[in-house]
Amino acid sequence: MREYLPLLIVGAIIGSFAAIFIIAYAGIKNKKEAIGFDRNVPDGEIIRRLSKYALPYWRSFLLVLLTMLFSISYDLLSPWLIGRIEGLIKEDFELNRLFMMVAIYAGILIVSLVCTYFQSIILQRTGQKILSALREDIFTHIESLSHNQLNQIPVGKLVTRVCNDTNAISMMFTNILVNLVKNVFIVFGVLGAMLMLNYMLTLMILCFVPFLVLFTVIFRKFTRRVFRRVKDRTTDINTYLSENLSGIKITQVFNREEAKLRDFLRKSEELKKAKQDQIFVFGIFRPMVYMLYISSILCLLYLGGRGYIKSTVFMGQMVTSEIVVSFYMYVSKFFNPIQTLAEMFNFLQSAFASAEKIFGILDMEPELVDEPDAIDLPEIRGEIEFKDVWFSYVPGEWVLKGVSFHVQAKQTVAFVGSTGSGKTTILSLICRNYDIQKGQILIDGIDIKHIKIASLRKHFGQMLQDVFLFSGTIRSNIVLREESFTDEQVMQSCRYVNADHFIGRLEKGLDEPVRERGNNFSAGQRQLLSFARTVLHRPAVMILDEATANIDTETEILIQDSLEKMKNIGTMLIVAHRLSTIQHADNIILLSHGVIQEQGTHQELLHRKGRYYQLYMLQFDEQERRNALRNAEIA
Ligand SMILES: Nc1ncnc2c1ncn2[C@@H]1O[C@H](COP(=O)(O)OP(=O)(O)OP(=O)(O)O)[C@@H](O)[C@H]1O
Ligand SMILES: [Mg+2]
Repeated sequence: MREYLPLLIVGAIIGSFAAIFIIAYAGIKNKKEAIGFDRNVPDGEIIRRLSKYALPYWRSFLLVLLTMLFSISYDLLSPWLIGRIEGLIKEDFELNRLFMMVAIYAGILIVSLVCTYFQSIILQRTGQKILSALREDIFTHIESLSHNQLNQIPVGKLVTRVCNDTNAISMMFTNILVNLVKNVFIVFGVLGAMLMLNYMLTLMILCFVPFLVLFTVIFRKFTRRVFRRVKDRTTDINTYLSENLSGIKITQVFNREEAKLRDFLRKSEELKKAKQDQIFVFGIFRPMVYMLYISSILCLLYLGGRGYIKSTVFMGQMVTSEIVVSFYMYVSKFFNPIQTLAEMFNFLQSAFASAEKIFGILDMEPELVDEPDAIDLPEIRGEIEFKDVWFSYVPGEWVLKGVSFHVQAKQTVAFVGSTGSGKTTILSLICRNYDIQKGQILIDGIDIKHIKIASLRKHFGQMLQDVFLFSGTIRSNIVLREESFTDEQVMQSCRYVNADHFIGRLEKGLDEPVRERGNNFSAGQRQLLSFARTVLHRPAVMILDEATANIDTETEILIQDSLEKMKNIGTMLIVAHRLSTIQHADNIILLSHGVIQEQGTHQELLHRKGRYYQLYMLQFDEQERRNALRNAEIA
């Protein structure tokens, strides 16, 4: 009995740890949360969809599998070889045989290293290809979503999907899957090798396996929870950052830095806590496995040494010193992969969760899609008609209520009305950024629902309330990726809209860099650039949303002048708050709360002495007052 005391002590220690873990797990209140990620899609479905991305590279994966077999051979053979070398040194020493053994050992090592190298090169390359295919898919899909759908997803979330989540998936292909397969091979290979060497010692090692499984199972439950929290917090912080970095100037102007910083620190703190929990969970699991490993080594040395000294025979096998040495190495080769496997399963789960989130985006059916029999419109005249159009962004809250109007080709029509009356909405409906609920919108007499969206939008040039410039150069912002324009054509359109003056003053002219959102240019300059962009592409319909707000008189005159010229290009729809700028429009439509209140030419509307007349008089008085002031100043 006393002989087995050391083994009993080891067993008691491990047993009590296991008991503590079981009690701790049973004590968690919210079991459901500990179970793992919010997953609705079954694993099989995710694997099926992911494998579509991997399938084109099956040759690479096959090659990886082959090289893997070689690299595994080192793990399986080296302990045995070392044991042989030990035996050789101790018993029948012979220099030549020793050299040969060492040479074989080195040879296997080198082959395994070379294979591992190629394996990781192939994997990384393939992984990057899969990653970029996935990123491309998500990006194209996001581009196909309607404004309505895009309004619902925060930008930070999309960034997380395109960057972090695709990365998790690429990790799965490059690292996790391979490690899973490799480690499974190693565990079974090592088990086989140990069985061939000695049953008794193998059985002893196997006694530790149930504990290993138990620790792993409990560990997985905890890690899933922390993994999910880390993920959610990361998305949170990304969303917060992308919104607040865009609005950082407002924050500064309103002196809200401290409040924003506090918000940010809170989110950052939450992420830190989640990460710490993750580290904590791993921090418990790894030493536990290590404890099992050390215990098994102790048992091995005790039992093996005892068996060697006493020349014990078990099922016809004897324990030799070589076997103890080989086992000593095999045991570590056995425990390591099991620990890695447990961790890899978690990464795999995490990658699946990422995949599910990505597929969630990919599965969002674009709301605005071409009808099956939608037609291409190579040319349009630019005639636009609204027939009793009803539209709401939010069900039940009508923004447009039965709007009807008709714009002849090449006409200029202006929309006026108070803030929120629906002017911008009308313009965005014409480009089919949203679908209307009732009524019809016709271009050249064809319902826009029957026209391919891309073909429809091609004919519009939009100059919106806030001009968006991309980072790049002035030229790239005017030509918008279409390379077929010559510099002369670009400059010509700049001259046409009077943008040449300020471009001429820039150091690099058309090649002047544009920073993100064009924030190194003034609002008026950005406006002129967007005009140049529109004029260059010569669309059949030009849409201009309040372009003349917030600019100095000199630029306003320039803009007025370019607008006058642009009227010759095609149909023009203008939203304006300053009535003085639209006096020459062919038709003026006055909106009020989503209904057309009056329409007609400037003169007709003045004669009618209705709402337009009132508005005009208000602005006219204001203008008079300003002129009077200016004259007084000059005098
Ligand atoms: N994406 C949206 N989601 C929900 N409601 C919206 C959205 N965009 C606009 N609205 C609502 O629709 C109404 C009309 O908005 P619209 O932008 O067309 O007004 P507008 O006439 O262009 O005003 P402004 O002169 O201030 O530019 C407003 O009441 C606004 O609150
Ligand atoms: Mg508007």
